[in-house]
Amino acid sequence: MFDKQIYKQRREKLRGKLKGGVALILGNTDVPMNYADNAYRFRQDSNFLYFFGLDQQNLAGVIDLESGEDILFGDDFTLDDIVWMGPQPTLAERAGKAGVERTQEFGKLHDLLAQVMKAGRKIHFLPPYRGENMILLEKLLGIKPDQQQAKSSADLIRAVVALRCVKDEGEVREIEKAVDTTALMHTTAMKMAYPGVYEYEIAGVVEGIALSGGGRLAYPLILSIHGETLHNHSHHNKLREGRMVIMDGGAESEMHYAADITRTFPVGGKFSQRQRDIYEIVLKAKQEATRAIKPGIPFRDIHMLSAGVIAEGLSSLGIMKGDTRQAVEQGAHALFMPHGLGHMMGLDVHDMEDLGEDYVGYDDEIKRSDIFGTKALRFGRKLEPGFVLTVEPGIYFIPELVDRWEQEGRFREFINYEKVRTYLDFGGARLEDNILVTDDGFRVLGRPIPDSPDDVEKMMEAGR
Ligand code: GLY
Ligand code: MN
Ligand code: MN
Repeated sequence: MFDKQIYKQRREKLRGKLKGGVALILGNTDVPMNYADNAYRFRQDSNFLYFFGLDQQNLAGVIDLESGEDILFGDDFTLDDIVWMGPQPTLAERAGKAGVERTQEFGKLHDLLAQVMKAGRKIHFLPPYRGENMILLEKLLGIKPDQQQAKSSADLIRAVVALRCVKDEGEVREIEKAVDTTALMHTTAMKMAYPGVYEYEIAGVVEGIALSGGGRLAYPLILSIHGETLHNHSHHNKLREGRMVIMDGGAESEMHYAADITRTFPVGGKFSQRQRDIYEIVLKAKQEATRAIKPGIPFRDIHMLSAGVIAEGLSSLGIMKGDTRQAVEQGAHALFMPHGLGHMMGLDVHDMEDLGEDYVGYDDEIKRSDIFGTKALRFGRKLEPGFVLTVEPGIYFIPELVDRWEQEGRFREFINYEKVRTYLDFGGARLEDNILVTDDGFRVLGRPIPDSPDDVEKMMEAGR
């Protein structure tokens, strides 16, 4: 945990942004895998971690926006619990670590909220994403799960987003720790990527490295020779010459800050000319997009810049054609890059996606596009110092998408379908780094991870 002052300051800042009532911040519970005592590995709610820092089950925090008081709701462990779990700190001790002076039994949460409601004061709550908390919210507030999204507090969401968007030094250090662990995951995977190896053999080692860094994976590992499937979580292919592996994998730090890194490398350790040509376009898109990062620039413009680099590059290979600027404006490049350039990251790999992507990534000035490809951009608004984002361009040849667009005759003036067809066995390439927006530019976070084709080949050589 950070020092208790950090959590106190965060709650104080929240009070400064909201008027009236209380903010209810629910922690997470264990979720059974196949029976109650055999649970999925516990992951605390990120908003609860942000304001209270306590990484344990069955807690809730109430932040009184008027009286200035914070209350931690939870239960002390019984002797029976301790027999199974070992010695545990008391609830008051745990609250002390978060700078909270008042504690109450979890069962009293209902009574407190009933009093707040009776007094006509507002209960601000965040949109729940787990069934357990939806059931709890119904019990506490009498709001049915299907109404909870709509009745959650837009004011609280905006206030939390405003605070969590800007990372302080301690948070950036945590993200860098996660990236450093992740660097080892990627260089290890590169060294293992030889013909005959199964994806799951590499996936197991990579996940082990995340665990041995003190945390775990920040999201399910993407590691596949079928990188054209953007979020491919299956690991059952045998590596074979002629394919490239896309690995999109990131560790969490012990305090649950995420890294989100992608590298692409050729099975067998040498890029073919065709692979290198596509790879270098993606690398250029990553480099130019990264260099454009500074406060005041809308990230949407940087997304469009990277799309332009990709369209130019594909035109130079004869895959696209015509006026690149128009092709990008109309969305023709999205056949090859149907996703956004990046997203905010922090305690969540897609930071605060539970609160609603448009609250995080868009505002009154910059609205989400409805064009295929560009609409998948999770974050479009102007950058500010302290924001941490991913930059993750890619080029993919998705046979089903090519078939559909060709049948529909889409963008014939910009796409050379005959040439595209010769790439349908290619797969894809993506590169992703984690970038801090500084006062006057950007900083790539964490230890460098090979990305030039020569450096990737050199790293892979070490695994021969
Ligand atoms: N790892 C998922 C993403 O890059 O957004
Ligand atoms: Mn990723
Ligand atoms: Mn990402």
